[in-house]
Amino acid sequence: MEQKIAPLSRFEASIRLPGDKSISHRYGMLTALAEGESTIHHYSSGADCHSTLGAMRALGAVIHVDGSTITVQGRGKGGLVPPSAPIDCGNSGTTMRLLAGILAGQPFDCQLFGDESLSGRPMDRVMNPLAEMGAVLVAREQRYPPLEVHGRKLKAIQYAPPMASAQVKSCVLLAGLFAEGETIVEEKVRTRDHTELALREFGVSLAVSGKQIRIPGGQTLQARNLVVPSDLSSAAFFLAAALLTPGSSLQIAGVGLNPTRTALLDFLVSMGANIRILNLSQTNGEMMGDLLVRHSQLKGGVIEKDLTALLIDEIPVLSVLGAASREGVVVRDARELRVKETDRIATMARNLRALGAEVEEFEDGYAVKPAGQFRAGSFPSFGDHRIAMSMAIASLAADGESTIEEAEAASVSFPEFYSTLHALRG
Ligand code: S3P
Repeated sequence: MEQKIAPLSRFEASIRLPGDKSISHRYGMLTALAEGESTIHHYSSGADCHSTLGAMRALGAVIHVDGSTITVQGRGKGGLVPPSAPIDCGNSGTTMRLLAGILAGQPFDCQLFGDESLSGRPMDRVMNPLAEMGAVLVAREQRYPPLEVHGRKLKAIQYAPPMASAQVKSCVLLAGLFAEGETIVEEKVRTRDHTELALREFGVSLAVSGKQIRIPGGQTLQARNLVVPSDLSSAAFFLAAALLTPGSSLQIAGVGLNPTRTALLDFLVSMGANIRILNLSQTNGEMMGDLLVRHSQLKGGVIEKDLTALLIDEIPVLSVLGAASREGVVVRDARELRVKETDRIATMARNLRALGAEVEEFEDGYAVKPAGQFRAGSFPSFGDHRIAMSMAIASLAADGESTIEEAEAASVSFPEFYSTLHALRG
């Protein structure tokens, strides 16, 4: 599907966004492992999170979907059943990697597969620690999906992921639930901690000290009534729309403000963005609040070292803002971007050049010079949701109507993206 995007002029709006993708995945999995019936409100509408629900259904959980309200009859920790067919993880790396951790401790075998993009993404990062714990994993070229997980009795390990990855950390912690002994994960950079907070919410005790997490095996999970905050990574696109459009202001209600995710706001403020947080509150251990953003002249900035891991999903749209800023943006230490839904260094470099920016590409990032007035054009999403949405936002500030190719990719995380964008036009 192609989507035409016209330039946007001054707007004042208030919008709501879908539930956080990372938190939804975790609640979808943990409610299925809990004893009893749980309800999840404001579950992500994204296809990825529905891949997770499909997977948990295939493993025996009874799941009822009513819009964004999900009811889950948990199987209890020992109650998952062998699926009757391989499990389809769609486009979702989080589904495949976190689920592999749960499946590693089951007394049955299971095969996980995904779409073309997921089939090219590395799984050895979770296969290695799970094999160390005692599970048997088989993949194409020992690395790529489809991924066979042969569950075994697991033993606890101490693991230091070689890359900054919340998915790898979460996979090992979930396997740790089924292991004998205390599993310890020691991170290099403290990545998003939704798994730790969610496990606690379900009654699991774990000890967090700096970048080290310890989880004793054998614990059970209790059903919960849960509310998912709106997705800050989805909000990033609309923050960018307001920042780019002179005279505009935007309010976004109930956004997740977990401190391991809010480096985005700090970075935008460091670029000169006018953003305020109102009505801070907490739900199920997660912080949330309303965001108020006004159009701002942006300076530019540098994303490198630990900051890169903290902004990993927002780098595409921050690069668009960088191209619109006075000094541009430099991204380094971002090799992980090359193994996301697409190689986001290559796909964004191509699209940023089409906007009129000069881009110097490095193995681990790029330097984006200020583009001046963006040129309208036809921008491929390469089937990657964050590329589609980043280029749609860039198109709002272009000198004419633009086209996003394979625009439907946005529905992986944000099916209402284009209608929400449309609402800004009043
Ligand atoms: C996620 C972690 C990140 C992020 C992804 C969601 C999660 O991936 O890019 O969109 O929910 O744990 P990595 O942990 O592989 O960096």
